[in-house]
Amino acid sequence: MEHFSIILALLRAALKDPSPAVLGHAGRLLAALRKDGEDQQATQLAKLLEGGEQSGRMQPSRVVLSRAALPGEAITPNVRPPVDKETGAPLADIMLPNMLELAQAPVLNSALRGSVDALIEEWRHLDRLRAMDIRPPLNCLLFGAPGTGKTKLAQIVSREIGLPLVTARLDGLISSYLGTTARNISALFTFANRYQCVLLLDEFDAIAKVRDDPHEVGEIKRVVNTLLQCLDQRSQLGITIAITNHDQLLDTAIWRRFDIRVSVPKPDLESRLDIVNRYVAPLDLSQQERRFLAWLTEELTGSEIETLANAIKRSAAMNPGSEFSAIEALKVHAMLSSNHHQHPRWEQLLGPVEALAAALGSDRDLDFTQDDLARFFGKDQSTISRWKRKHREVS
Ligand SMILES: Nc1ncnc2c1ncn2[C@@H]1O[C@H](COP(=O)(O)OP(=O)(O)OP(=O)(O)O)[C@@H](O)[C@H]1O
Ligand SMILES: [Mg+2]
Repeated sequence: MEHFSIILALLRAALKDPSPAVLGHAGRLLAALRKDGEDQQATQLAKLLEGGEQSGRMQPSRVVLSRAALPGEAITPNVRPPVDKETGAPLADIMLPNMLELAQAPVLNSALRGSVDALIEEWRHLDRLRAMDIRPPLNCLLFGAPGTGKTKLAQIVSREIGLPLVTARLDGLISSYLGTTARNISALFTFANRYQCVLLLDEFDAIAKVRDDPHEVGEIKRVVNTLLQCLDQRSQLGITIAITNHDQLLDTAIWRRFDIRVSVPKPDLESRLDIVNRYVAPLDLSQQERRFLAWLTEELTGSEIETLANAIKRSAAMNPGSEFSAIEALKVHAMLSSNHHQHPRWEQLLGPVEALAAALGSDRDLDFTQDDLARFFGKDQSTISRWKRKHREVS
């Protein structure tokens, strides 16, 4: 990143008396640097943040978990993640709850939101459950299509229960040397069991594949067996969240180890509208345009809707004032996306406008009135009626 030394100096000054916002922004910057593979800069920033914590100035986490119910030491800023013995590569990233302060929870449908809230409440009150001699759900598997917000959800869960997030790094864990991957997995679990934390195993299928894969030479068996032992031991000690896009690839014994298996679906119409509203801000789109976007994005993931909203905002920025048309921007975006032919609603968007108006007018979920349609297409009601008639005659 350009001018990083200046940013670091600014942060150093701001961290002398940090507000939660400064800590949150610093956490976001750290996550972005790690995501972009800027490891050196990420390490520098992490060290700076640790210094801030060492002097006791960091804010306490928002939620205090009933920690007495959890064994293990607290992760202090001095704690380093475990490393591969041969290469020295880190096996995990550690994120303290305040680094996730500004992370936004993904939009979830109400059923899923309810289950996740219940889960967080139980994890916050482990002591109450244990007093009843009930084993709390300490293993959770999240599965679903790419881009549905699973990783984000795990981060939010970790923040909400107020524990550091220890995320396994596949690049460090997986080794081409025989036996090293299994050894690294053991080292990771030993670390996670020593400290109070949420252990996140993202892209879990990479280490938890079925053991009878004919293309594997035995190493995967060793890895999965180690993983089974580690999961069994950990289920008495701490919280683990595993995530996969390929639940069907998971070894069945591994699958059974999880108390809770949560399918994270693509968003429904109502959730899509919430996602649209979140990502089109600060653009001033009408209610009709927003509802149209939610309708158009059926079968798309939250991540894809975010990309689409960004495309619209880009177009608005480049065509200020009356030149900007959300629908034209959408058409350009649809034309540029390689799979628009597989998506019936995108085909409708790119087809004749009369047919699109008729489709919008007859969709029960969308519930567009004649007046909505007139406003949406910037036409008067008689034009809309004429379009509808024309379309009926054609079809
Ligand atoms: N339901 C949602 N609500 C709001 N934003 C979402 C939602 N789903 C995805 N996003 C956006 O997409 C980005 C990617 O989401 P995330 O990485 O959590 O998805 P994922 O399911 O883990 O994907 P993958 O399986 O590819 O790792 C998020 O940071 C967020 O900006
Ligand atoms: Mg993910």
